[in-house]
Amino acid sequence: MSKKVVAIVGSYRKGGVVDRTVEAILEGAREKGAETHTIYLTEQHINFCTNCRQCTQTPGVERGKCAQQDCLESILTEIEAADSLVLGSPVNYYNVTAIFRRFLERLLGYFYWPWGQNLLTQRSKLQPRKAVLVSSAGMPGLLIPIATGASRALRLTAKMLGARPVGSLWIGLAAGEPHSPLSARTLGRARRMGMKLA
Ligand SMILES: Cc1cc2nc3c(=O)[nH]c(=O)nc-3n(C[C@H](O)[C@H](O)[C@H](O)COP(=O)(O)O)c2cc1C
Repeated sequence: MSKKVVAIVGSYRKGGVVDRTVEAILEGAREKGAETHTIYLTEQHINFCTNCRQCTQTPGVERGKCAQQDCLESILTEIEAADSLVLGSPVNYYNVTAIFRRFLERLLGYFYWPWGQNLLTQRSKLQPRKAVLVSSAGMPGLLIPIATGASRALRLTAKMLGARPVGSLWIGLAAGEPHSPLSARTLGRARRMGMKLA
């Protein structure tokens, strides 16, 4: 059966650096026979977490359900059925975008954290999925994991979604023109990472 790869894109720009990089990864996965789907967070109705913590109160390994009625439940159902994930967000003000962060905050149901307990515990330590992490920034790419919180936020998101990172692409010097071209090297790396996910 073909593998399913789901990408979560937290960029505000279709056709931007993150989107094009994610698409190159998915192309690589499709070359290896995978089925792919991209979820653009800009197109989803996802409310802010209200910190009600209802989703964290019931013990067990199953994700606690959020009380809010929006697109989150169907997105997480799709992710949980996937074999691999691609998680992408530009660096905005030294971290992932607000829209990506809003999605991350809504993943609290993967933790058990009853009232009266100071520490929260992840419900399941299993990581049945693989993930590739993507970010882009105006600064040089090698600074992204050192000087920003973006890689940490992307790693945390992968962990909460039961995915272990098998690769990352930190694309720097990406703000010099409206549609900075991706180098052949970046595109090649992206495609090869996609192949690893399939
Ligand atoms: C509001 C805003 C904040 C930004 N903050 C940073 C930053 O802190 N560091 C940085 O190197 N680049 C920053 N950038 C540049 C973006 O990370 C860069 O243009 C990125 O490639 C955009 O991704 P996209 O092409 O997928 O839209 C910022 C851009 C915007 C619009």
